[in-house]
Amino acid sequence: MPIVSAVVAAALGTTLVVTATANAATTLGAAAAQSGRYFGTAVAAQKLGDSTYVNLLNTEFNMVTAENEMKWDATEPNRGQFNYSGGDRILNHALNNGKRVRGHALLWYQQQPRWAQGLSGSDLRQAAINHVTQVATHYKGKIYAWDVVNEAFADGNSGGRRDSNLQRTGNDWIEAAFRAARAADPGAKLCYNDYNTDSINPKSTGIYNMVRDFKARGVPIDCVGMQSHLSNNAPSDYQANLQRFADLGVEVQITELDISGSNQANAYGAVTRACMAVTRCAGITVWGIRDSDSWRGGENPLLFTSSGAKKPAYTSVLNALNAGGPGPTTTTTTTTTTTTTTTTDPVPPGDCTASVSLNQWNGGFVATVKVTAGSSALNGWRVTTTLSGGSVTGSWGANGSGTSGTVNWTNVDYNGSVPAGQSTEFGFQGSGSGSGLNPTCSTR
Ligand code: G3I
Repeated sequence: MPIVSAVVAAALGTTLVVTATANAATTLGAAAAQSGRYFGTAVAAQKLGDSTYVNLLNTEFNMVTAENEMKWDATEPNRGQFNYSGGDRILNHALNNGKRVRGHALLWYQQQPRWAQGLSGSDLRQAAINHVTQVATHYKGKIYAWDVVNEAFADGNSGGRRDSNLQRTGNDWIEAAFRAARAADPGAKLCYNDYNTDSINPKSTGIYNMVRDFKARGVPIDCVGMQSHLSNNAPSDYQANLQRFADLGVEVQITELDISGSNQANAYGAVTRACMAVTRCAGITVWGIRDSDSWRGGENPLLFTSSGAKKPAYTSVLNALNAGGPGPTTTTTTTTTTTTTTTTDPVPPGDCTASVSLNQWNGGFVATVKVTAGSSALNGWRVTTTLSGGSVTGSWGANGSGTSGTVNWTNVDYNGSVPAGQSTEFGFQGSGSGSGLNPTCSTR
């Protein structure tokens, strides 16, 4: 039977109060999860034999993006012949370790296989849409979010599309790709991803207008990826830019963050705080783990040194994640915050435990539930929670049986397998009170 081992921190205030200081997490992924967000990294398949790299990956991150292995040149080297070896290796490592996966990228003007570079017109359009369908189908049910289209807008002041072979197939190539991706994997969030979109500028405004048009016409789009390859600073309107996209009804995700320069630690903190302040900012991915893993050779733009030590930028990010919360969206005047941790002890072999971290504010809550395998690996789990008054309005990483009272949560495809002694997470948000959830875990 579960034993409530700790009930921590109740606070009243005139502004939003969050739990982090009561229960600061010590890894990036766990810190982000407190507010229902993720913290991810790009991963290169050939580095999965490097123990320093893998240890940092497994410990610090709960989202993974394949740096190159899911791109068109890697996955369809010859027309109609698909190779998922590198992508699958990264995906399986992530899923086997309780992490989620961002798919990157279905269509891009770069890293196209040579055969596609030689196509044009309706032949290229057909090949491109077939590529989207095939790859999204292969990974169906396993991808948290796809970068469906990458870098399709021009730099500079035009605010228009970038010229490319794909663009020359017709302006509707982007929406055709999104519709094909939705049809192939209805469970994946579908993102448009680009760089130089970190402030309110002609390029980001061009993308903003496209997203607004897609939402108005029912073209399936769920998220916008801000790559955020930055130098020294986050633009002063970084948060405002995220917020204007969020206000269109899409999530924003920071997808390839790296920051060079002597102000690196401050800039990382500013970017992280901006995400935490935007409710629909779902999470942050850094583009590599150690400086030596970065595509920006010599610029040392990441959170760990080349030997794997934490840099000051790491501490800035961790502190900002721990200080954050669900993201203030209203002028809430009274807020109550409670963190409850429930544990089950001892753990029978093959069994599992569940604990919950609860961020409660005036009128709503986010619950992040950690599922931990006992001395045997899990191949499917069920967590039961009890809602005493509140009701569920959204969830991630599990399927719920209902929205009020006793709710049974079962794993989704990507997080059902949990190695012995390791953990995965899911979460849900709700209105009203999330107190007394008392999660219990069993195997399926
Ligand atoms: O694997 C081959 C190796 O066998 C060969 O000897 C070597 C010779 O050049 O190339 C290796 O492939 C390289 C590959 O990275 C793996 O390291 C490619 O040349 C190189 O072009 C490729 O660069 C990638 C780049 O995208 C391609 O444009 C970077 O790793 C990757 O970090 C970068 O990622 C992009 C995102 O996808 C989109 N946003 C921008 C970001 C940075 O450019």
